[in-house]
Amino acid sequence: MSNVQNSPIGVFDSGVGGLTVLRELYRQLPQESILYFADTARLPYGNRSEAEILQFVREILTWMTHQNVKMVIMACNTSSALALETVRREFNFPILGVILPGARAAVKQGQRIGVISTPATAKSNAYRQAIQEINPNAHVWQVGCSEFVPLIEQNRLYDPYTKQVARRYLSPLLARQIDTLIYGCTHYRHLAPIFQEILPSTINLIDPASFVVQAAEKELKLMGLYNNKTTKPTCFCVSGSPQTFSRLSQQWLGYCPSVESVSLQSVSTIGYSRIGEELEILE
Ligand code: DGL
Repeated sequence: MSNVQNSPIGVFDSGVGGLTVLRELYRQLPQESILYFADTARLPYGNRSEAEILQFVREILTWMTHQNVKMVIMACNTSSALALETVRREFNFPILGVILPGARAAVKQGQRIGVISTPATAKSNAYRQAIQEINPNAHVWQVGCSEFVPLIEQNRLYDPYTKQVARRYLSPLLARQIDTLIYGCTHYRHLAPIFQEILPSTINLIDPASFVVQAAEKELKLMGLYNNKTTKPTCFCVSGSPQTFSRLSQQWLGYCPSVESVSLQSVSTIGYSRIGEELEILE
């Protein structure tokens, strides 16, 4: 087997959201080695500008190039919506995003599609464009939520306030009688038990994580990059506190991972612009 097939798949997110994609990788492609990066020093991504996201994504991909990844999965909707098209042309490994696989899966399920995402993803209109390119008759409503990611990263999943917030964000979508809901932010899948309590069981829930991994498998096979030999343990790296990430991720991984600290060029948490948002539904 050539070296490149043994190389890891790079997976990144701002934080623990990408673990929902990692979980799918473990399920569907258990033989692949994974390098997981969480940009926790700069989260949340969802209120940042396109220029900032593009800069962060370029830094992450440049670092991943030095780690010899054979493919990258953007386990982050915000990066997929704002940066994927640009960076795809700049790096010489395949880069997959979550939006298109999510949109494809949703149009197979329904015609009245709700998307719950970060404010930046909602504003980008990426899901509406991807969905209506496949089915121009589909109705799409996008809600941008600024509160979920900090609540999840602070491990407030079972705080009654989180449920209150979920009701507030989901109610405009329920009022439009959606038949399908896309988890348009990888973090939100961690809230599935809460969503399922609020939403009627008739609504199809789409998690793009599962579909991006299906797409990755196809691409790996097509490009002769598929690994069917031994796997190395997942390597976890973060730009913020390794201890915090390790503690938080344990509940989804089932073990306490060892996490390394990585400093990317010009990591900064100050001076970024915020997208103003208060429960805005984009028709
Ligand atoms: N989990 C990411 C996404 O899917 C980023 C969330 C954030 O940092 O705001 O958009």
